[in-house]
Formats: sequence, structure tokens, C-alpha cells
Amino acid sequence: MEILKNLFIGGEWVPAQSKKTFEVLNPATGELVVEIADAGEADMAAAIDKADHIQPAWGSSIALERSAILRRAAALTRERIGFLAELMTKEQGKPLHQSVAELEYGIGFLEWFAEEARRIYGMTIPSQYATKRIAVLKQPAGISACITPWNFPSLQILRKLGAALAAGCTMVVKPAELTPLSALEIGRTFQDAGLPDGVLSIVPSLDPVPPTAAIQKDPRVRVLSFTGSTEVGKLLMRGAAETMKRVSLELGGHAPVLVFADADLDRAVAETVACKTRNMGQTCVSANRIFVHESIAAEFANRLVTALGALKVGNGLDPDVAIGPLVEPAGVEKVERHVADASQRGAKVLLGGSRYTDGAAAKGNFYSPTVLLGVDESMLVTQEETFGPVAPVLTFQSDDEAIDRANDTPYGLAAYAFTSNLNRAVLLAERLEYGTVGINDASISAVQAPFGGMKESGVGREGGPVGMEEYLETKYVSLGGLPG
Ligand code: SIN
Repeated sequence: MEILKNLFIGGEWVPAQSKKTFEVLNPATGELVVEIADAGEADMAAAIDKADHIQPAWGSSIALERSAILRRAAALTRERIGFLAELMTKEQGKPLHQSVAELEYGIGFLEWFAEEARRIYGMTIPSQYATKRIAVLKQPAGISACITPWNFPSLQILRKLGAALAAGCTMVVKPAELTPLSALEIGRTFQDAGLPDGVLSIVPSLDPVPPTAAIQKDPRVRVLSFTGSTEVGKLLMRGAAETMKRVSLELGGHAPVLVFADADLDRAVAETVACKTRNMGQTCVSANRIFVHESIAAEFANRLVTALGALKVGNGLDPDVAIGPLVEPAGVEKVERHVADASQRGAKVLLGGSRYTDGAAAKGNFYSPTVLLGVDESMLVTQEETFGPVAPVLTFQSDDEAIDRANDTPYGLAAYAFTSNLNRAVLLAERLEYGTVGINDASISAVQAPFGGMKESGVGREGGPVGMEEYLETKYVSLGGLPG
């Protein structure tokens, strides 16, 4: 299949009205993948017009029809997975097997919401009057918009889109400027699956501001779903207030891992490494602050060094590679800043600690897997998301101390804890202030589960039995004047 280069608006593949284009680069080589249309405010406004035209028909379509389209799109994505995974690795950098895993995860959301579409239940409630009846209807909220990040170029759209379409909402998508190609493929897949024109538009742009402005100022857009930084999430929430859109925000995380002295260390190390290296550490649920009981900290850190040191770094298209490049040079610079700051403040670099400066790797955004020991809360690495393959190890003495320090952050997306003590496990599940708590588990992604954050990690939940609520209005109907 040819790589798509145009915007997908109202069922047509069109250049930007301005005729502008922008480059998509391969982060492993620095080379150009393709140049694509660069949307402006007018292009997004046109996409919203198309959505507005079709929303009444889509919103009143039969749930089984929406369900069938979601299933067909899931099947087509599965058929095309080889092409799609390679494209994702080229634009984003993640190892090929992780691109495949991301697409399978995304397909899972389409299939999940294909089933949920059939279960949009309302309610009847007994009235306090014999002459009245109370009914509660669930109806599509209307046009939805999503703005998605580059770390999971396909998944982040499919999880939102599956829920929106199942609920009967149209959607306009502004994908991340670094990874628009996987997003355009979603447009192609749904078009081939028979989605009516205008229900979905994909509108990439280099500058996110103009298309976002079109979304924000348009009162017809009723839902804004965003995944990305807390800083941008706050700006969007303020903007959405102007037209009182509902917002669904999945924002930054700063996930703690708590490893207690009674933990199964093999499991704790394997899970921490898997969580840390997924997408080269560029996830909102990545293990960022690893608190280890002081009695086992040295051994745990040494095991991390062995496990991370054995992983091959390189171009994700090589099937043996476990760690690809970071998505952009700015990402490498941030990691360098964090590691330099930690080391200046007394942390020991047990493994890695540098970017690749020799040979072919120097052209890509590669940073070596790194383990830091002797980390404390004065260091940047514990204050901000690093978004890179750096494992900072802190030590603790008591359970209360570990929990308090883990909770001492504005973020509340995901936390992990390893212990073989059941009482401690229950306490941790209850006291950790996070939307997701993994006990003896740091691979928490699941289509059936509600995913989202507490505190400044966001509002709303995606996936699971509640994921469609973000796209549904609740209407109370009072039927009066009946014979008493
Ligand atoms: C993320 O949004 O960073 C990861 C989401 C997931 O694994 O479900």
C-alpha cells in the first residue's frame, strides 16, 4: 500500500487548503519518511462541518450497524498489521514487535466497543406521583474531537474512536505532528470498513494551534478528548470551558514502583524492566520512581543492570532490537539533563548514562538504557517525567514512608507495588492515590479496564465498561398526565 499524504475530510483525501506540507522523519535514521499535507484552522473547520452534517444520521443509526463497522475495521487492521506496524516503527521508532502489540491492543478496543455499542442501557425509575413515569435515556453527546500524542500513534486514537463511534458520536482527529501516518491509516481502514463519509476526519498539522482553535471555538463540538501533558491538558480544559464542552483528559503520570523486602525479586525485576523499556520509557505509565526497601536495594539495582544491559539498542525494524530511538532530539536532551542533574546531586550511574555518538546510531535519537542508584527527591528525575530509558532507584525503610513518598506528587495515573504479603497488598491498593494500581504487576494495559488518572493526571476514564460514558449524554424524561 502507498503511504497516505493527504488529509482525510468528509470521506475525501484532500490537500490542505493552504497547499502547505510538512515532513515526517524517521527517528532512528533522521531520514525523511514522507511529506504530507499540513492542515490549518479552515481544514479542521471543514471537517467539523462534515461531521455536523452526518451527526444526526449517525447518532440515530442502529447500534448493530455501528457495531458491525467497528468489527470490520478491527478485521481490516488485523489483515494489514504487517504494513501498519512497519509504518509505525518508521515514524515513531518503537521496535516492530511493540508496534504489532500496540495495533493488537487497539484492535481489542474496537472489538470491545463493538460489543458495548449494543449495551447502551437506559433506566426507568418509579416516580413519586401515580400520574407520572420517569425514564432515563442515554444519547450520543454529538461531535467529538480528539487530540492525540505520538507515543502510541494508533492506540491513542483507536481507544477514543471506538468509544465515540459505538456511542453514536462523530469524531474529528488531530494526531500528533510527529506520527500522523498511522492516524491517516485509521481513516483509510474505517473508510474501507464502510463508515459513512464525514463520521470520521483525520486532520494532521505541524502546528497544533490552528486546528485546535477551530475545535475550541466551535460550539457544535461537544466532547474534547486529549491525551498528552498536564500543561497542555489544563490549557485545553480552560479553552473548552468557553463552549462548555465535556473534556476527557489522560495526562502526565509519574509512576512509582514500590518493591518490598518480601517481594518475588525475579518478578519485580522482570515487570519493572518491561514497564520501563516499553516504548523506550516514553509512556505515561512508565516506571519513573523505583522505591526499593533498603535491605534489597543493592541487589535489585544490580539485577536491573544485568537485565537492561542485555537489551539490544537500535533501529526498531531489526527484529532483535528491544530499545529503539527516542522520538525526537528534544527527548534525548531532556534525558541527558535529568541524568546529569541526578549525577551532580550524588546519584551513581550503574549503567548507561549517555547518548549514542558513534556510527549509524549517531544519526538517530538513541539513549542507552540507564540505571541510577542513590536517587532522592531533590533530583529532576523524581520531579518530572523523564520519558526515556532511565531507571532511578530510591530506597525506603518503612511501609508508611514508601506510600507517603509515592503519593507525594501532583500526578496520579499508575502505581505498582511488589510484595508477597496479602495484608500489605490490600493496604497498598487502597492507599496509593492512583487511577490504576498494579500489585505484583506492571503490565496493566487491558481493554476491559477503566484507564485514567487522579489529581493532575486527568479526568475521565477510557476503555472498560465505563469508557463510552465520556461520549454519552444522560437525559431524564418525565412523562406526566397519565391516569392515576
Ligand atoms: C499510555 O497512555 O501511556 C499507556 C496506555 C496503556 O497502556 O493503556
